[in-house]
Amino acid sequence: ARKIIIDTDPGQDDAVAILLALASPEEIDVLGITAVAGNVPLPLTQKNARIVCELAGKTDVPVYAGCDAPLNRKLVTAEHVHGKTGLDGPTLPDPQMPLTEGHAVDFIIDTLRGHDAGTVTLCPLGPLTNIATAFQKAPDIVEKVQEIVLMGGAYFEVGNITPAAEFNIYVDPEAADIVFKSGAPIVVMPLDVTHKALVTKPRNDAFRALGTEPGIAVAEMTDFFERFDKEKYGSVGAPLHDPCVTAYLIKPELFTGRHINVEVETGSGLTLGMTVADWWRVTDRAPNAMFMGDLDADGFFNLLTERLARL
Ligand code: BDR
Ligand code: CA
Repeated sequence: ARKIIIDTDPGQDDAVAILLALASPEEIDVLGITAVAGNVPLPLTQKNARIVCELAGKTDVPVYAGCDAPLNRKLVTAEHVHGKTGLDGPTLPDPQMPLTEGHAVDFIIDTLRGHDAGTVTLCPLGPLTNIATAFQKAPDIVEKVQEIVLMGGAYFEVGNITPAAEFNIYVDPEAADIVFKSGAPIVVMPLDVTHKALVTKPRNDAFRALGTEPGIAVAEMTDFFERFDKEKYGSVGAPLHDPCVTAYLIKPELFTGRHINVEVETGSGLTLGMTVADWWRVTDRAPNAMFMGDLDADGFFNLLTERLARL
């Protein structure tokens, strides 16, 4: 199984991504979960990460708290999408499992240093603050990373928090810039892909029909999350952004994309946090990321439902 660290700001879609990973031990070995401030502040994201581990019945996964604010900006949150707790929808008990002692950034550094090069994958599902901080603090770990598979950015779909920027990149553009320039192999799940992973009514019903605690909780989470997309965009269902990352680790053939150059705007007020993706390769800037563009949505939801059934 592929060894991964999930770096996350749960978030209902983060929660589903984590459940998918924890339900797939044959393909994915979750070494730890590191929380970062994003959708909601850090005290909530670290707590939500533990709630999700308990929901999955996997209380032995260490959960660490990381950075509580972007590198050099004020935190922007997304309660308008995720609700006050970040995990609104189901009623889930407060976690019993403790937060693991130590800082998430040190866990990332120590884990990469403690494993052979090319054997640990980073899976960021929120702003890239923890990852960038780890790379700044310990530049030697960059070449040890097997791959960074992240949710963030957009090309055709442009932005969801500003007209030009996707939330995860916008919240900490300087961190994203450090990660994209790091030289580590990167796979990106941008809005172009995640806006194809829509939880339609039948797909939501399929989660609920599992009849298990995790199945029903996922149905309730995606119901809540959907409210925003329906009212705002008239969408047929909520986009399951972050689970694209963990689905990719299990079934990469569900996704197609291009290996291209991607740069992050950190200067302009108007387009701050935009991922400038050279999809048509009109520059000679070196490719630095596998930027996904399409997804087999039915295959994705079949996989997700089948795996959630195992929890
Ligand atoms: C991303 O922003 C967050 O609100 C979601 O959890 C996802 O990671 C989508 O833009
Ligand atoms: Ca997220």
